[in-house]
Amino acid sequence: SQTPVIAKAHTNIALVKYWGKADEHLILPTNDSISMTLDHFYTTTSVQFDAQLAADDIILDGIKLPTDGQQRIRQFMDLVRQRAHTDLFAHIETSNHVPTTAGLASSASGFAALAGAAAKAAGLNLTRRELSQLARRGSGSATRSIFGGFVQWHAGHDDESSFAEPLDEKVDWPIRMIAIVVSQDEKKIGSRHGMKQSQTSPFFNDWVKQANADIDPLRTALLKKDINRVGSIAEHNAMCMHATTLSATPPFTYFNGDTIKAMQLINDLRSLGLNCYYTMDAGPNVKVICLADEVDAILDHLRPAFGNDQLVVAKPGPGLTYL
Ligand code: DP6
Repeated sequence: SQTPVIAKAHTNIALVKYWGKADEHLILPTNDSISMTLDHFYTTTSVQFDAQLAADDIILDGIKLPTDGQQRIRQFMDLVRQRAHTDLFAHIETSNHVPTTAGLASSASGFAALAGAAAKAAGLNLTRRELSQLARRGSGSATRSIFGGFVQWHAGHDDESSFAEPLDEKVDWPIRMIAIVVSQDEKKIGSRHGMKQSQTSPFFNDWVKQANADIDPLRTALLKKDINRVGSIAEHNAMCMHATTLSATPPFTYFNGDTIKAMQLINDLRSLGLNCYYTMDAGPNVKVICLADEVDAILDHLRPAFGNDQLVVAKPGPGLTYL
């Protein structure tokens, strides 16, 4: 067997969210989305094809996955095999690097790293656009994690036209995201299931319209490095996304009491004149969008409610690399 290929990809947080599929099989989204890749949270994945194997052998954070937990990864590997015209199985070892039990280890960094490592190990020589298209088949948000900095995923209308593109890979202004890691005691509803259920909302079509309308203003605000425009577009977009969960049949929410508490604290700071905004994904954690020189004041205000181990400051991070 060959030497293993190791790839590293960082997670990303959407400023305009992907929340709904136009095609579940190809993972085509209902709208474009824009994200920031983070420096702090990443996955490394090693892939080695081996003629001795009768099935993919998958180890996640040091633990061998039971066969039923391997389904999504195996299906993804089948795509790679098909494309590379091979029937070999692989050793796959993946580790998530996140401070504490942040719940921020996402399928985005996971499938971006797997796409990179598996494609190269299979002898495919893919462009970054092609890697982005491939990563998309594992998890939608992984489409964007191939690139660093600010990234736009073009929804497209078929496999070929749905890919991400960097807007600014070398971000030269001090935008920050503070992750507020709140307690995760509630039962999780995965994003795949949650977004499908949200498509039952009577507001779902309006959400798609709003998200598409947010793209160009956000691009302009990012170009102008205007934190207040970036933050307010992202915050409003997140609230519109979460409105589709509350209005779904049956209704649900990702927020818990701590999520609301964090939102209120950020609102307080804003009325005091600080430039900070929040965004939330398919879980109770809150990410605060702000500038570096206001991070300490924001942390001071959050600390009575959240411990130091619950507060993680992230910067823009890089795209896919090979180790
Ligand atoms: C709320 O990429 O996890 O984070 O494509 O079904 O794997 P699948 O979903 P996933 O959804 C991410 C949703 C989100 C918003 C975003 O990242 O744009």
